[in-house]
Amino acid sequence: MRRAWLRAAIVPVALLLSACATQSPVSSPTPEPLSPTPSVTTASETALTGNGDVPEVLDPDLLEHLPVTVHSQSGYQQHIFATWPEFGKPKIDAAIRGYYLSTIKQFEQDYPQPADPEAPSPELNLDWHLLAASPSMIGIVADGYQFAGADASDLWHSMWFDPSTDTVYQPADLVNSYAVSTALVGLEPSRRTMVTTLDLSPLGSNPYGAATLVAFTGNGDLIVGFDECQVAACVEDRVTMTIPATTVAPMLTAAGKRAQAAEMDPVDPTTTASTSASSPSPVPVVTPQPTAKKVNCKKLKCVAITFDDGPGPYTKTLLSYLKAGNVPATFFMLGQQVDTYPHTALAVAKAGHEIGVHTWSHRDLTRLSPIQIDKEITSTVDIIRNETGVTPTLLRPPYGAVNSTVRKEARKAGLAVVLWNVDTLDWKTRSTPKTVKAALRDTRRGSIILLHDIHKTSVAAVPDIIAGLQAKGYTFVTVTDLLGNPQPGVMYRYGR
Ligand code: NI
Repeated sequence: MRRAWLRAAIVPVALLLSACATQSPVSSPTPEPLSPTPSVTTASETALTGNGDVPEVLDPDLLEHLPVTVHSQSGYQQHIFATWPEFGKPKIDAAIRGYYLSTIKQFEQDYPQPADPEAPSPELNLDWHLLAASPSMIGIVADGYQFAGADASDLWHSMWFDPSTDTVYQPADLVNSYAVSTALVGLEPSRRTMVTTLDLSPLGSNPYGAATLVAFTGNGDLIVGFDECQVAACVEDRVTMTIPATTVAPMLTAAGKRAQAAEMDPVDPTTTASTSASSPSPVPVVTPQPTAKKVNCKKLKCVAITFDDGPGPYTKTLLSYLKAGNVPATFFMLGQQVDTYPHTALAVAKAGHEIGVHTWSHRDLTRLSPIQIDKEITSTVDIIRNETGVTPTLLRPPYGAVNSTVRKEARKAGLAVVLWNVDTLDWKTRSTPKTVKAALRDTRRGSIILLHDIHKTSVAAVPDIIAGLQAKGYTFVTVTDLLGNPQPGVMYRYGR
């Protein structure tokens, strides 16, 4: 339960238990009875790390009826990957985006790419999770991992807002800050977590004001969280302190009470009376489309076009371009994105494209233990299979970072390791013309072309890439068709 990635991988469990997961095909063959209040989601397990109580995260499907889009930013030289939600509300979105972009900027300044190419790349990974939801209050937490060349640390940052009025709440808006600070200082040892070196004094007279996480337990206890090294020795991981619901009750503002309720009894934020007692949708049965005719890559000039980091808000547009060009593609999906965009993942599968694994949370796998690598892979295999009916056979490790341990874990999971030999640098240039130019210039027979469907500019490049390469006599196939019979644990950069 300790390391960072678990925070996200727990979510599918919650999804199983969630009434809102009724459209999720995950569920057991015997349909489970609908709960009397179908819009209530319960998270079954804590999903963030920390030394004390941590808030439970909710199934992002709960936001399904809100126009939420998930944005991503990535970098390769410095290994940066961040995803965050936007709600179409100017103030809320500015606050969320502001946090993520400033954290990235700070990281880039603090930990520039080392001049020595052999030195390990600094890495920043920023996820987001849903903490609480109601028509008048949503809570999210940014959950981060940072590797700075020598040591790694976790960070988190909670954000609370009212989607109905576009209001952003600061921690001090939720409680009487002075009362909570006093309570924190006076907490009995058991509520101060098991950390022995906990020391609030460096934070001055208002420890609460320095907290990076404010949330609640399912019982309504207030959780106040701090980053690593903030109030305890750096070896201690993140720290939380818990004030019991009865004690904290008189300290809560009206907004704080709404936040507490939205975490204890989350409901679909678009609920007016009672939304969607949606009936369970059937398990997807994906009949892979008869891939046109079987293409013979010994005779034809075959290439494979691949899309990483999705599915995302632009993936459906991409599907229409691929359909128009009659082009099969290969999508290396992130588990966390499939969790957020399950219907899009299913649409990709239904259109007959190949789906591979890009891990759950886009961590550099060469920094993880075999157990962590296994969980990053198998949790993603599971959610892809559950949401799309497809069992993936390919792994693309984030950043193309591979070592013998990664290959071994891939082999155990039955996955071939697929890199690329045409890097369009679309993630870097964010330029449609440059992306098209790179793809047309560098592609040869057997090439595997790397693109990212989380960027609008990349998706916009696809029609010209298809037309340009078809004009040069290339035939698009999936990665598996290009490679012929890719073997688990073996690494490929191009095919025939
Ligand atoms: Ni990636």
